[in-house]
Amino acid sequence: MSYGLKKIILFASGSGTNAEKIMQQVQSSGVAHVAALYCNVAGAGVIERAKTLKVPVRLFENNQLNDPEVVGQWLQEDAPDLIVLAGFLRKIPEFIVSEFPRKIVNIHPALLPRFGGKGMYGMHVHRAVKESGALETGITIHYVNPAYDEGAIIFQAKTPVTESDTPEEIARKVQILEHKHYPRVVVELLKEGNHGQ
Ligand code: GAR
Repeated sequence: MSYGLKKIILFASGSGTNAEKIMQQVQSSGVAHVAALYCNVAGAGVIERAKTLKVPVRLFENNQLNDPEVVGQWLQEDAPDLIVLAGFLRKIPEFIVSEFPRKIVNIHPALLPRFGGKGMYGMHVHRAVKESGALETGITIHYVNPAYDEGAIIFQAKTPVTESDTPEEIARKVQILEHKHYPRVVVELLKEGNHGQ
């Protein structure tokens, strides 16, 4: 438990539109310091977004995620109050999940428990929603546990899917919900300050 400004770190692999909005909102909230962006893809768009916001970047190879002496060691040094996954496409290893109980959150671009699990990310999710004929989709913000997309749900928001919606249109609707809610929910969690209990 830290008594000064809280600290968050983010994990992201891609363009980083969510990570950017979260970093901005946390910085302007004054509730926490964005200690670092952890990224496993050299050249990912999120790296430039972090640099523009003066957030330090920790770049790693996928095998280093599972190495307690690399990513595990960085996490010890950064000692985050909250770890936010924003389009991070690897599984967080169990030793990290157990070191940070109820301190790791993720966003999934659908209404879990449907359309989750291994291989379900990005456009794969929106195509599956379209093919299923579902009449609605949305976002799920949830805690991370050792299984993909199965941790306790913190927040969901829905949007209708019409017959004429393409997977790209579904993705656009979902992204609007993500940008509206994920930064807000992260700031609220930081304010609640009951992580790890
Ligand atoms: C977001 O839509 C997020 O929900 C999704 O990756 C996208 C990242 O976009 N995450 C998953 O699919 C996790 N299973 P961004 O890089 O523009 O924030």
